[in-house]
Amino acid sequence: MQGRRILLVIGGGIAAYKSLDLIRRLRQRNASVRCILTAGAQHFVTPLAAGALSGQRAHTDLFDGEDEADIGHIKLARDADAIVVAPATANLMSKMASGAADDLASTVLLATALPILIAPAMNVRMWQHPATQRNLATLRDDGIHVVGPNDGAMAEAEFGPGRMAEPIEIADAAAKLLSDVPHAEVPERSVGLQARTQGAASFEARLRLAPQDEEGGSPLKGLRVLVTSGPTHEPIDPVRYIANRSSGRQGHAIAAAAAAAGAEVTLVSGPVALPDPAGVRTVRVETAREMLAAVEAALPADIAIFAAAVADWRTANEAGQKLKKGGNVPPPLQLALNPDILATIAHRTDGRPPLVVGFAAETENVVEHARQKLARKRCDLIVANDVSPATGVMGGEQNTVHLVTADTVETWPTMDKGEVARKLVARLGELAKAQANS
Ligand code: C5P
Repeated sequence: MQGRRILLVIGGGIAAYKSLDLIRRLRQRNASVRCILTAGAQHFVTPLAAGALSGQRAHTDLFDGEDEADIGHIKLARDADAIVVAPATANLMSKMASGAADDLASTVLLATALPILIAPAMNVRMWQHPATQRNLATLRDDGIHVVGPNDGAMAEAEFGPGRMAEPIEIADAAAKLLSDVPHAEVPERSVGLQARTQGAASFEARLRLAPQDEEGGSPLKGLRVLVTSGPTHEPIDPVRYIANRSSGRQGHAIAAAAAAAGAEVTLVSGPVALPDPAGVRTVRVETAREMLAAVEAALPADIAIFAAAVADWRTANEAGQKLKKGGNVPPPLQLALNPDILATIAHRTDGRPPLVVGFAAETENVVEHARQKLARKRCDLIVANDVSPATGVMGGEQNTVHLVTADTVETWPTMDKGEVARKLVARLGELAKAQANS
């Protein structure tokens, strides 16, 4: 980031203290940083601290005579290579989405044509509120880049998405953004809008319309992604069911990562204890047959990722009433084969998503079995993982995966499921692009 100029807008949230560390990290990468603090931000950090760390006076007031004489708000909006908003509070996002300009930060954000990266941070319920999600969608459509928020413990002793991305992640995202922006040149941000209005355009056309400057930012912009996640529950009687230990963490993380990458995501989820991911249309189902129906209803899709641990069998004789113990003989449990959702969709001649991804949970000969599955189910890529009990993968936080195609195998180091999801989504963006160009 040698010589690049970043205007850092610090919003009024508890995460503002991390923005001081962000200043340090940006400067370590040889960027210069100028700060604007909103009135709210000044409850958490002082202009003095931001100024001392950035080495330049921090700006706070739209009508400050000294500020205007010094640089002026319009010049502030121009004299940089990119703007980073961290923390981007719900209020600041709302103002940006509606075009409000009632203080220095919002006026500068409205008066600029520079690339903007926001790092949202707020309470989980505020993040999940439809109003915030609407604002987020508007901001993405306006070409604004987003990093985070992450899942995690929050100041209010709650857990979930809303925690600001770490300073190092924000610095990485800013560096990525700037690497695509030539010095002193304003990027065209209207391409994303064109992509949106072409709803009926072909997969290839939509990919071509997706902004080319968003490698790692919105690589799936303009694409429809379908994800299945979680286990299925197959009823034995009204109170008992057959299930498995899938938590849905991997599938949900993939849906969230695809949404963060700009895709329009539908998540079809079996019963899980996880919240619906932000920015994703989530359809909750119980059984494999309901999952298949929901998947079919969600088509067409450009990329379909089948991460659910679907029960292979259901009871053939589901009882209408609770089964009674009566005597020593257990009730007979007959099983019937469930539909294979992945194979059903991948075998379609009409409306098959161009990129179909399956998962293979194996306990031995992981790659070999994955390859056989790839051929049998006719998918384009299998994400194979070792779920032998010693690995703790099933229901755990981490995953070790192999990406298996008809003629390649790629083994990734063990990492947490969120990281697997982000890497997988980035890889699918590349594959989709290659497919569209072939
Ligand atoms: O055959 P197996 O269950 O190992 O295949 C795993 C892959 O197939 C996963 O992608 C899973 O989501 C999908 N699958 C499915 N419907 C089934 C069984 C598996 O979609 N009934």
